[in-house]
Amino acid sequence: MKTLKTQVAIIGAGPSGLLLGQLLHNAGIETLIVERQAPDYVLGRIRAGVLEQGMVDLLRQAGVSQRMDAEGLVHEGFELALNGRLHHIDLKTLTGGKTVMIYGQTEVTRDLMAAREHAGAITLYEARNVQPHDLKGERPWLTFEHQGQQVRLDCDYIAGCDGFHGVSRQSIPADVLKTFERVYPFGWLGILADTPPVHGELVYAKHSRGFALCSMRSPSRSRYYLQVPAEESLDAWPDQRFWAELKERLPADLAASLVTGPSIEKSIAPLRSFVVEPMQYGRLFLLGDAAHIVPPTGAKGLNLAASDVSTLFTLLCKVYREGRVELLEKYSQICLRRIWKAERFSWWMTSMLHQFPEADGFSQRIAQSELEYFVESQAGRETIAENYVGLPYEAIE
Ligand code: APR
Ligand code: PHB
Repeated sequence: MKTLKTQVAIIGAGPSGLLLGQLLHNAGIETLIVERQAPDYVLGRIRAGVLEQGMVDLLRQAGVSQRMDAEGLVHEGFELALNGRLHHIDLKTLTGGKTVMIYGQTEVTRDLMAAREHAGAITLYEARNVQPHDLKGERPWLTFEHQGQQVRLDCDYIAGCDGFHGVSRQSIPADVLKTFERVYPFGWLGILADTPPVHGELVYAKHSRGFALCSMRSPSRSRYYLQVPAEESLDAWPDQRFWAELKERLPADLAASLVTGPSIEKSIAPLRSFVVEPMQYGRLFLLGDAAHIVPPTGAKGLNLAASDVSTLFTLLCKVYREGRVELLEKYSQICLRRIWKAERFSWWMTSMLHQFPEADGFSQRIAQSELEYFVESQAGRETIAENYVGLPYEAIE
Protein backbone atom coordinates (compact mmCIF):
# COMPACT_ATOMS: atom_id res chain seq x y z
CA MET A 1 0.00 0.00 0.00
CA LYS A 2 1.25 3.47 -0.92
CA THR A 3 1.14 6.00 1.96
CA LEU A 4 0.60 9.74 1.46
CA LYS A 5 0.38 12.53 3.98
CA THR A 6 -1.26 15.95 4.00
CA GLN A 7 -2.73 18.44 6.48
CA VAL A 8 -6.32 18.61 5.21
CA ALA A 9 -7.66 15.72 3.12
CA ILE A 10 -10.57 16.85 0.94
CA ILE A 11 -13.07 14.36 -0.48
CA GLY A 12 -14.69 15.68 -3.67
CA ALA A 13 -13.55 18.14 -6.35
CA GLY A 14 -16.81 20.01 -6.80
CA PRO A 15 -16.96 23.74 -6.01
CA SER A 16 -16.83 23.13 -2.21
CA GLY A 17 -13.70 20.98 -2.27
CA LEU A 18 -11.85 23.03 -4.87
CA LEU A 19 -12.61 26.40 -3.26
CA LEU A 20 -11.62 25.17 0.21
CA GLY A 21 -8.46 23.68 -1.30
CA GLN A 22 -7.51 26.93 -3.01
CA LEU A 23 -8.04 29.10 0.07
CA LEU A 24 -6.08 26.71 2.29
CA HIS A 25 -3.27 26.40 -0.25
CA ASN A 26 -2.95 30.20 -0.43
CA ALA A 27 -2.79 30.28 3.37
CA GLY A 28 0.09 27.80 3.38
CA ILE A 29 -1.99 24.84 4.59
CA GLU A 30 -1.44 21.71 2.53
CA THR A 31 -4.40 19.85 1.03
CA LEU A 32 -4.91 16.78 -1.12
CA ILE A 33 -8.20 16.25 -2.95
CA VAL A 34 -9.55 12.82 -3.87
CA GLU A 35 -12.36 12.80 -6.44
CA ARG A 36 -14.33 9.81 -7.68
CA GLN A 37 -14.88 11.10 -11.22
CA ALA A 38 -12.62 12.33 -14.04
CA PRO A 39 -12.28 16.13 -14.49
CA ASP A 40 -14.35 16.16 -17.69
CA TYR A 41 -17.21 14.41 -15.95
CA VAL A 42 -17.17 17.00 -13.15
CA LEU A 43 -17.21 19.79 -15.74
CA GLY A 44 -20.02 18.16 -17.72
CA ARG A 45 -22.58 18.79 -14.99
CA ILE A 46 -24.70 21.87 -15.66
CA ARG A 47 -25.68 23.38 -12.34
CA ALA A 48 -26.48 26.75 -10.81
CA GLY A 49 -25.57 30.17 -12.12
CA VAL A 50 -26.22 32.91 -9.56
CA LEU A 51 -23.42 33.97 -7.19
CA GLU A 52 -24.10 36.05 -4.09
CA GLN A 53 -21.75 38.92 -3.22
CA GLY A 54 -20.27 36.82 -0.39
CA MET A 55 -19.27 34.07 -2.81
CA VAL A 56 -17.95 36.58 -5.34
CA ASP A 57 -15.77 38.10 -2.62
CA LEU A 58 -14.55 34.66 -1.55
CA LEU A 59 -13.56 33.77 -5.14
CA ARG A 60 -11.67 37.07 -5.33
CA GLN A 61 -9.97 36.29 -2.02
CA ALA A 62 -8.99 32.89 -3.40
CA GLY A 63 -7.43 34.60 -6.43
CA VAL A 64 -9.67 32.87 -8.98
CA SER A 65 -11.94 35.72 -10.03
CA GLN A 66 -10.18 37.00 -13.14
CA ARG A 67 -12.47 35.39 -15.71
CA MET A 68 -15.58 35.84 -13.56
CA ASP A 69 -14.86 39.57 -13.25
CA ALA A 70 -14.34 39.83 -17.01
CA GLU A 71 -17.20 37.62 -18.24
CA GLY A 72 -19.72 37.41 -15.38
CA LEU A 73 -22.86 39.51 -15.63
CA VAL A 74 -23.67 41.72 -12.65
CA HIS A 75 -27.44 41.75 -12.11
CA GLU A 76 -29.01 44.53 -10.09
CA GLY A 77 -32.45 42.96 -9.97
CA PHE A 78 -34.79 40.21 -11.21
CA GLU A 79 -38.44 39.89 -12.23
CA LEU A 80 -41.29 37.98 -10.64
CA ALA A 81 -44.02 37.27 -13.20
CA LEU A 82 -47.44 36.85 -11.59
CA ASN A 83 -50.62 36.45 -13.58
CA GLY A 84 -48.89 37.65 -16.72
CA ARG A 85 -47.49 40.82 -15.10
CA LEU A 86 -43.86 41.53 -14.25
CA HIS A 87 -42.93 42.81 -10.79
CA HIS A 88 -39.40 44.09 -10.58
CA ILE A 89 -37.27 43.25 -7.53
CA ASP A 90 -34.64 45.97 -7.59
CA LEU A 91 -31.96 44.20 -5.56
CA LYS A 92 -29.51 47.06 -5.58
CA THR A 93 -31.90 49.75 -4.35
CA LEU A 94 -33.71 47.47 -1.90
CA THR A 95 -30.50 46.24 -0.23
CA GLY A 96 -28.49 49.44 -0.16
CA GLY A 97 -26.22 48.53 -3.07
CA LYS A 98 -25.95 44.73 -3.19
CA THR A 99 -26.10 42.79 -6.46
CA VAL A 100 -25.60 39.21 -7.70
CA MET A 101 -23.23 37.83 -10.35
CA ILE A 102 -24.43 35.55 -13.16
CA TYR A 103 -21.59 33.10 -13.76
CA GLY A 104 -22.11 29.36 -14.18
CA GLN A 105 -20.99 26.83 -11.57
CA THR A 106 -19.28 24.96 -14.40
CA GLU A 107 -17.10 28.01 -15.07
CA VAL A 108 -16.37 28.50 -11.36
CA THR A 109 -15.25 24.86 -11.22
CA ARG A 110 -13.13 25.21 -14.38
CA ASP A 111 -11.37 28.28 -12.94
CA LEU A 112 -10.74 26.55 -9.61
CA MET A 113 -9.35 23.43 -11.32
CA ALA A 114 -6.97 25.57 -13.40
CA ALA A 115 -5.81 27.53 -10.35
CA ARG A 116 -5.17 24.32 -8.41
CA GLU A 117 -3.17 22.85 -11.24
CA HIS A 118 -1.19 26.09 -11.58
CA ALA A 119 -0.47 26.05 -7.84
CA GLY A 120 0.86 22.51 -8.12
CA ALA A 121 -1.58 21.19 -5.51
CA ILE A 122 -2.63 17.58 -5.95
CA THR A 123 -6.04 16.28 -6.98
CA LEU A 124 -6.31 12.53 -7.45
CA TYR A 125 -9.16 11.99 -9.93
CA GLU A 126 -10.92 8.67 -10.48
CA ALA A 127 -10.19 7.60 -6.92
CA ARG A 128 -12.33 4.54 -6.12
CA ASN A 129 -13.81 3.33 -2.86
CA VAL A 130 -12.75 6.28 -0.71
CA GLN A 131 -13.16 5.40 2.98
CA PRO A 132 -12.51 7.66 6.00
CA HIS A 133 -11.05 6.05 9.16
CA ASP A 134 -10.48 6.91 12.83
CA LEU A 135 -12.52 10.12 12.69
CA LYS A 136 -12.55 10.49 16.46
CA GLY A 137 -8.78 10.03 16.77
CA GLU A 138 -5.92 12.52 16.53
CA ARG A 139 -4.74 11.21 13.16
CA PRO A 140 -7.63 10.33 10.85
CA TRP A 141 -6.88 8.75 7.48
CA LEU A 142 -8.45 7.84 4.17
CA THR A 143 -8.02 4.74 2.09
CA PHE A 144 -8.85 4.49 -1.60
CA GLU A 145 -7.76 2.95 -4.88
CA HIS A 146 -6.01 5.11 -7.44
CA GLN A 147 -4.54 3.96 -10.77
CA GLY A 148 -4.70 0.36 -9.66
CA GLN A 149 -2.93 1.02 -6.35
CA GLN A 150 -4.20 0.91 -2.79
CA VAL A 151 -3.49 4.26 -1.12
CA ARG A 152 -3.53 5.39 2.50
CA LEU A 153 -3.71 9.16 3.10
CA ASP A 154 -2.82 10.35 6.61
CA CYS A 155 -4.04 13.81 7.62
CA ASP A 156 -5.03 16.16 10.46
CA TYR A 157 -8.58 16.85 9.26
CA ILE A 158 -10.98 15.56 6.61
CA ALA A 159 -13.26 17.88 4.66
CA GLY A 160 -16.28 15.99 3.30
CA CYS A 161 -17.07 17.92 0.10
CA ASP A 162 -18.48 14.94 -1.77
CA GLY A 163 -22.03 16.04 -2.42
CA PHE A 164 -25.37 14.54 -1.47
CA HIS A 165 -24.47 10.97 -2.50
CA GLY A 166 -20.93 11.01 -1.10
CA VAL A 167 -19.29 8.74 1.44
CA SER A 168 -18.54 11.38 4.10
CA ARG A 169 -22.01 11.80 5.59
CA GLN A 170 -22.54 8.03 5.38
CA SER A 171 -19.40 7.39 7.41
CA ILE A 172 -20.84 9.17 10.46
CA PRO A 173 -22.73 6.75 12.75
CA ALA A 174 -26.44 7.07 11.99
CA ASP A 175 -27.41 7.60 15.64
CA VAL A 176 -25.28 10.77 15.78
CA LEU A 177 -27.09 12.44 12.89
CA LYS A 178 -30.48 14.08 12.67
CA THR A 179 -31.84 14.63 9.20
CA PHE A 180 -34.55 17.04 8.16
CA GLU A 181 -36.10 16.59 4.78
CA ARG A 182 -38.86 17.69 2.45
CA VAL A 183 -39.33 16.21 -0.99
CA TYR A 184 -41.46 18.23 -3.40
CA PRO A 185 -43.92 16.56 -5.77
CA PHE A 186 -42.25 18.04 -8.86
CA GLY A 187 -38.91 18.56 -10.58
CA TRP A 188 -37.30 21.10 -12.87
CA LEU A 189 -36.76 20.34 -16.52
CA GLY A 190 -33.87 22.55 -17.65
CA ILE A 191 -32.45 23.33 -21.06
CA LEU A 192 -29.38 25.21 -22.17
CA ALA A 193 -29.47 26.86 -25.61
CA ASP A 194 -27.24 29.17 -27.60
CA THR A 195 -29.95 31.78 -27.98
CA PRO A 196 -30.04 35.32 -26.55
CA PRO A 197 -31.83 35.44 -23.16
CA VAL A 198 -35.47 36.53 -23.45
CA HIS A 199 -34.93 39.30 -20.89
CA GLY A 200 -31.99 41.24 -19.46
CA GLU A 201 -32.68 39.91 -15.96
CA LEU A 202 -33.86 36.57 -14.58
CA VAL A 203 -37.63 36.01 -14.69
CA TYR A 204 -39.30 33.73 -12.09
CA ALA A 205 -42.81 33.02 -13.38
CA LYS A 206 -45.78 31.67 -11.41
CA HIS A 207 -48.44 30.26 -13.70
CA SER A 208 -51.44 27.97 -13.35
CA ARG A 209 -49.69 25.47 -15.70
CA GLY A 210 -46.64 25.45 -13.40
CA PHE A 211 -43.55 27.48 -12.57
CA ALA A 212 -41.04 28.64 -15.20
CA LEU A 213 -37.64 30.35 -14.90
CA CYS A 214 -35.74 32.29 -17.53
CA SER A 215 -32.05 32.44 -16.71
CA MET A 216 -28.84 32.81 -18.67
CA ARG A 217 -25.15 32.06 -18.79
CA SER A 218 -24.05 34.88 -21.13
CA PRO A 219 -25.59 37.38 -23.59
CA SER A 220 -25.76 34.54 -26.14
CA ARG A 221 -26.54 31.53 -23.94
CA SER A 222 -29.85 30.97 -22.16
CA ARG A 223 -30.89 28.59 -19.42
CA TYR A 224 -34.64 27.93 -19.01
CA TYR A 225 -36.55 25.73 -16.59
CA LEU A 226 -40.09 24.34 -16.36
CA GLN A 227 -41.80 22.75 -13.39
CA VAL A 228 -42.69 19.17 -14.37
CA PRO A 229 -44.18 16.23 -12.42
CA ALA A 230 -41.65 14.39 -10.20
CA GLU A 231 -41.55 11.23 -12.32
CA GLU A 232 -41.42 12.97 -15.70
CA SER A 233 -39.36 11.40 -18.50
CA LEU A 234 -36.97 13.48 -20.62
CA ASP A 235 -38.19 11.65 -23.73
CA ALA A 236 -41.55 13.33 -23.28
CA TRP A 237 -39.92 16.72 -23.86
CA PRO A 238 -38.55 17.26 -27.36
CA ASP A 239 -37.29 20.85 -27.77
CA GLN A 240 -40.43 21.98 -29.58
CA ARG A 241 -42.67 20.97 -26.71
CA PHE A 242 -40.37 22.69 -24.21
CA TRP A 243 -40.46 26.01 -26.08
CA ALA A 244 -44.21 25.86 -26.59
CA GLU A 245 -44.82 25.18 -22.90
CA LEU A 246 -42.42 27.92 -21.81
CA LYS A 247 -44.31 30.43 -23.99
CA GLU A 248 -47.57 29.40 -22.36
CA ARG A 249 -46.19 30.17 -18.91
CA LEU A 250 -44.59 33.56 -19.67
CA PRO A 251 -46.28 36.96 -19.94
CA ALA A 252 -47.44 37.49 -23.55
CA ASP A 253 -44.88 40.13 -24.52
CA LEU A 254 -41.98 38.02 -23.27
CA ALA A 255 -43.37 34.92 -24.98
CA ALA A 256 -43.59 36.88 -28.22
CA SER A 257 -39.95 37.91 -28.09
CA LEU A 258 -38.56 34.50 -26.98
CA VAL A 259 -35.87 33.26 -29.38
CA THR A 260 -35.85 29.47 -29.59
CA GLY A 261 -33.18 27.11 -30.87
CA PRO A 262 -31.78 23.61 -30.46
CA SER A 263 -31.00 22.62 -26.85
CA ILE A 264 -27.37 21.81 -26.07
CA GLU A 265 -28.23 20.21 -22.74
CA LYS A 266 -31.48 19.00 -21.25
CA SER A 267 -32.00 17.40 -17.85
CA ILE A 268 -34.51 16.93 -15.04
CA ALA A 269 -33.61 17.64 -11.41
CA PRO A 270 -35.77 16.63 -8.45
CA LEU A 271 -36.52 19.29 -5.83
CA ARG A 272 -35.62 18.61 -2.24
CA SER A 273 -34.91 20.38 1.04
CA PHE A 274 -32.46 18.47 3.25
CA VAL A 275 -30.30 19.33 6.27
CA VAL A 276 -28.15 17.10 8.43
CA GLU A 277 -27.15 18.04 11.97
CA PRO A 278 -24.45 18.22 13.19
CA MET A 279 -22.05 18.89 10.32
CA GLN A 280 -19.02 17.64 12.23
CA TYR A 281 -18.01 14.27 13.63
CA GLY A 282 -14.60 14.24 15.29
CA ARG A 283 -12.13 15.42 12.67
CA LEU A 284 -14.54 15.09 9.75
CA PHE A 285 -16.41 18.19 8.56
CA LEU A 286 -19.26 18.20 6.06
CA LEU A 287 -19.54 21.04 3.54
CA GLY A 288 -21.94 21.94 0.74
CA ASP A 289 -24.30 19.34 -0.73
CA ALA A 290 -22.86 16.66 1.58
CA ALA A 291 -24.69 18.39 4.45
CA HIS A 292 -27.63 20.19 2.90
CA ILE A 293 -29.74 20.51 -0.22
CA VAL A 294 -32.09 23.34 -1.14
CA PRO A 295 -34.57 23.44 -3.99
CA PRO A 296 -33.06 25.68 -6.70
CA THR A 297 -35.76 28.34 -6.59
CA GLY A 298 -33.79 30.74 -4.37
CA ALA A 299 -30.44 30.07 -6.14
CA LYS A 300 -28.89 29.19 -2.78
CA GLY A 301 -27.22 25.75 -3.22
CA LEU A 302 -23.84 26.85 -4.50
CA ASN A 303 -23.82 29.93 -2.29
CA LEU A 304 -24.40 27.87 0.85
CA ALA A 305 -21.48 25.67 -0.13
CA ALA A 306 -19.36 28.84 -0.32
CA SER A 307 -20.38 30.02 3.16
CA ASP A 308 -19.51 26.60 4.65
CA VAL A 309 -16.13 26.84 2.94
CA SER A 310 -15.58 30.34 4.30
CA THR A 311 -16.42 29.18 7.83
CA LEU A 312 -14.19 26.09 7.81
CA PHE A 313 -11.36 28.00 6.14
CA THR A 314 -11.46 30.76 8.77
CA LEU A 315 -11.54 28.22 11.61
CA LEU A 316 -8.70 26.12 10.20
CA CYS A 317 -6.52 29.22 9.79
CA LYS A 318 -7.03 29.99 13.47
CA VAL A 319 -6.26 26.38 14.37
CA TYR A 320 -3.02 26.21 12.37
CA ARG A 321 -1.83 29.74 13.15
CA GLU A 322 -3.02 30.27 16.70
CA GLY A 323 -3.55 26.73 17.95
CA ARG A 324 -7.20 27.44 18.76
CA VAL A 325 -8.36 23.87 18.20
CA GLU A 326 -11.43 24.30 20.42
CA LEU A 327 -12.93 26.68 17.83
CA LEU A 328 -13.65 23.74 15.52
CA GLU A 329 -16.47 22.69 17.82
CA LYS A 330 -18.33 25.79 16.63
CA TYR A 331 -18.23 24.88 12.94
CA SER A 332 -21.59 23.17 12.83
CA GLN A 333 -23.53 25.81 14.80
CA ILE A 334 -22.10 28.69 12.79
CA CYS A 335 -22.91 27.01 9.47
CA LEU A 336 -26.36 25.81 10.47
CA ARG A 337 -27.59 29.24 11.56
CA ARG A 338 -27.08 30.56 8.03
CA ILE A 339 -28.14 27.32 6.33
CA TRP A 340 -31.53 27.21 8.03
CA LYS A 341 -32.29 30.79 6.97
CA ALA A 342 -31.45 29.90 3.37
CA GLU A 343 -33.48 26.68 3.68
CA ARG A 344 -36.43 28.77 4.81
CA PHE A 345 -36.10 31.22 1.92
CA SER A 346 -35.68 28.45 -0.68
CA TRP A 347 -38.69 26.58 0.71
CA TRP A 348 -40.73 29.80 0.68
CA MET A 349 -39.83 30.77 -2.88
CA THR A 350 -40.60 27.19 -3.98
CA SER A 351 -43.92 27.09 -2.12
CA MET A 352 -45.03 30.48 -3.43
CA LEU A 353 -44.15 30.00 -7.09
CA HIS A 354 -44.98 26.36 -7.88
CA GLN A 355 -48.26 24.55 -8.40
CA PHE A 356 -48.72 21.78 -5.81
CA PRO A 357 -50.88 18.96 -7.19
CA GLU A 358 -52.51 18.34 -3.81
CA ALA A 359 -53.21 22.01 -2.96
CA ASP A 360 -56.87 22.88 -2.44
CA GLY A 361 -58.43 26.13 -3.57
CA PHE A 362 -57.91 27.81 -0.21
CA SER A 363 -54.15 27.10 -0.15
CA GLN A 364 -53.82 28.36 -3.71
CA ARG A 365 -55.55 31.64 -2.89
CA ILE A 366 -53.39 32.10 0.22
CA ALA A 367 -50.18 31.57 -1.76
CA GLN A 368 -51.38 33.95 -4.45
CA SER A 369 -52.30 36.69 -1.99
CA GLU A 370 -49.10 36.20 0.03
CA LEU A 371 -47.04 36.76 -3.10
CA GLU A 372 -49.13 39.76 -4.15
CA TYR A 373 -48.69 41.23 -0.70
CA PHE A 374 -44.92 40.75 -0.84
CA VAL A 375 -44.43 42.31 -4.27
CA GLU A 376 -46.77 45.24 -3.61
CA SER A 377 -45.23 46.15 -0.25
CA GLN A 378 -41.87 47.87 0.08
CA ALA A 379 -41.16 45.81 3.22
CA GLY A 380 -42.05 42.62 1.33
CA ARG A 381 -39.77 43.44 -1.60
CA GLU A 382 -36.96 44.31 0.82
CA THR A 383 -37.34 40.92 2.51
CA ILE A 384 -37.15 39.07 -0.80
CA ALA A 385 -34.15 41.12 -1.93
CA GLU A 386 -32.25 40.79 1.36
CA ASN A 387 -32.51 37.01 1.19
CA TYR A 388 -31.85 36.74 -2.54
CA VAL A 389 -28.56 38.66 -2.45
CA GLY A 390 -27.52 36.49 0.51
CA LEU A 391 -27.51 36.99 4.26
CA PRO A 392 -24.18 38.12 5.72
CA TYR A 393 -21.51 35.62 6.78
CA GLU A 394 -21.15 35.43 10.54
CA ALA A 395 -18.03 37.09 11.95
CA ILE A 396 -15.70 34.63 13.67
CA GLU A 397 -13.55 36.00 16.49
N1 APR B 1 -15.36 9.81 -3.29
C1 APR B 1 -14.78 10.86 -3.91
N2 APR B 1 -15.48 11.84 -4.51
C2 APR B 1 -16.81 11.77 -4.46
C3 APR B 1 -17.49 10.71 -3.80
C4 APR B 1 -16.70 9.70 -3.19
N3 APR B 1 -17.27 8.68 -2.57
N4 APR B 1 -18.82 10.92 -3.91
C5 APR B 1 -18.97 12.05 -4.60
N5 APR B 1 -17.77 12.58 -4.94
C6 APR B 1 -17.52 13.80 -5.70
C7 APR B 1 -18.47 14.00 -6.87
O1 APR B 1 -18.06 13.29 -8.03
C8 APR B 1 -18.42 15.52 -7.05
O2 APR B 1 -17.44 15.90 -7.98
O3 APR B 1 -17.74 14.92 -4.87
C9 APR B 1 -18.08 16.06 -5.67
C10 APR B 1 -19.23 16.81 -5.04
O4 APR B 1 -19.53 17.96 -5.78
P1 APR B 1 -20.98 18.66 -5.81
O5 APR B 1 -22.03 17.62 -5.87
O6 APR B 1 -20.93 19.68 -6.86
O7 APR B 1 -21.10 19.33 -4.34
P2 APR B 1 -20.44 20.64 -3.76
O8 APR B 1 -19.01 20.78 -4.15
O9 APR B 1 -20.80 20.68 -2.31
O10 APR B 1 -21.16 21.81 -4.54
C11 APR B 1 -22.24 22.53 -4.08
O11 APR B 1 -24.27 23.52 -4.78
O12 APR B 1 -26.18 24.22 -5.93
C12 APR B 1 -25.45 23.19 -5.47
O13 APR B 1 -25.67 21.12 -6.57
C13 APR B 1 -25.03 22.34 -6.61
O14 APR B 1 -23.05 21.12 -6.98
C14 APR B 1 -23.53 22.22 -6.37
C15 APR B 1 -23.45 22.40 -4.92
C1 PHB C 1 -29.65 28.90 -13.27
O1 PHB C 1 -29.29 29.82 -14.03
O2 PHB C 1 -29.32 27.72 -13.49
C2 PHB C 1 -30.49 29.23 -12.11
C3 PHB C 1 -30.74 30.56 -11.81
C4 PHB C 1 -31.54 30.89 -10.73
C5 PHB C 1 -32.09 29.90 -9.97
C6 PHB C 1 -31.83 28.55 -10.24
C7 PHB C 1 -31.03 28.22 -11.32
O3 PHB C 1 -32.89 30.23 -8.92
